[in-house]
Amino acid sequence: MLKDKRIGIIGTGNMGEALINGLVHSRSSIPENITCSDIRNDRLKSIKEVYGVVIAKNNLDVVKASEIVIYAIKPQIMASILKETADCLDKSKIIISIAAGVPLAAIESCLNKDLRLIRVMPNIAASVREGAAAIAPGKHALKDDLKLTQAIFDSVGESVIIEENLMDAITGLSGSGPAYIFLIVDALADAGVKMGLSREDALFLSSQTVLGAAKLLMETKEHPGKLKDKVTSPGGTAITGLHTLEKGGLRTTLINAVEAATNRSKELGEMMIKNFSGN
Ligand SMILES: NC(=O)c1ccc[n+]([C@@H]2O[C@H](COP(=O)([O-])OP(=O)(O)OC[C@H]3O[C@@H](n4cnc5c(N)ncnc54)[C@H](OP(=O)(O)O)[C@@H]3O)[C@@H](O)[C@H]2O)c1
Repeated sequence: MLKDKRIGIIGTGNMGEALINGLVHSRSSIPENITCSDIRNDRLKSIKEVYGVVIAKNNLDVVKASEIVIYAIKPQIMASILKETADCLDKSKIIISIAAGVPLAAIESCLNKDLRLIRVMPNIAASVREGAAAIAPGKHALKDDLKLTQAIFDSVGESVIIEENLMDAITGLSGSGPAYIFLIVDALADAGVKMGLSREDALFLSSQTVLGAAKLLMETKEHPGKLKDKVTSPGGTAITGLHTLEKGGLRTTLINAVEAATNRSKELGEMMIKNFSGN
């Protein structure tokens, strides 16, 4: 059970803090069982004040104190932090990386020992506990390791278990997805302003519309096409707007965007494998 496990979090930035917040507020864990480290003492101080978690002197002490270690630092410093903590990593621990674009093969080549590795691709909505995360097991991860990892990421949203070869597609879709939606909301707000609304009202109405549409999809579990049919009346406004979106190629553009982001993730991953093995 997750509540009994000692969890370590290296890096308490956006994602590290989101995870601490989710774990503590969902009561999936207790603050005394969460140990953190960061290069920034000011951040650690405020994290301790807000959540009551344990602060370690350094990254190595986080690993020593924990049964599950989450590496929540930037991909560029992942290799050096793995090396720094390598001596205390062994098969008794679950090791989770959320570093975007860092394949398990890169981590394996850097550490060069059999470990229970798990790779996770979360997204920024984890910070409001509505994240979408994909979890991929490494070759030595156990079934229970996946269950515990899923419990961690379910405390900040929802998660799915996938094979690692789909991680680039996940990065292109839900990892990068919030950026696409922000652009869409911003564009809808511009449209509202063009049609005479105040910026404030336009932005509020477009954001709330995206939130409401997503909630409707999740709660009814209806196919989006079916919901679209429900809100388009003959000769009405919605079908007229949809026709314009289709003429502008919105659907194709979104497919192209996810495809391009997936390919970019693949390229970055290949570069990471080269960099990590040369480290
Ligand atoms: N944010 C997202 O939406 C998102 C989505 C998917 C995946 N991810 C992945 O999640 C990971 C964390 O991202 P993030 O957005 O949370 O990054 P972040 O906000 O920069 O957090 C990383 C934290 O680690 C600290 N740090 C730097 N060097 C360190 C060291 N040597 N030892 C310990 N801590 C150190 C950073 O301090 P400084 O600020 O001083 O460098 C920062 O506080 C990344 O690998 C990213 O790819 C993020």
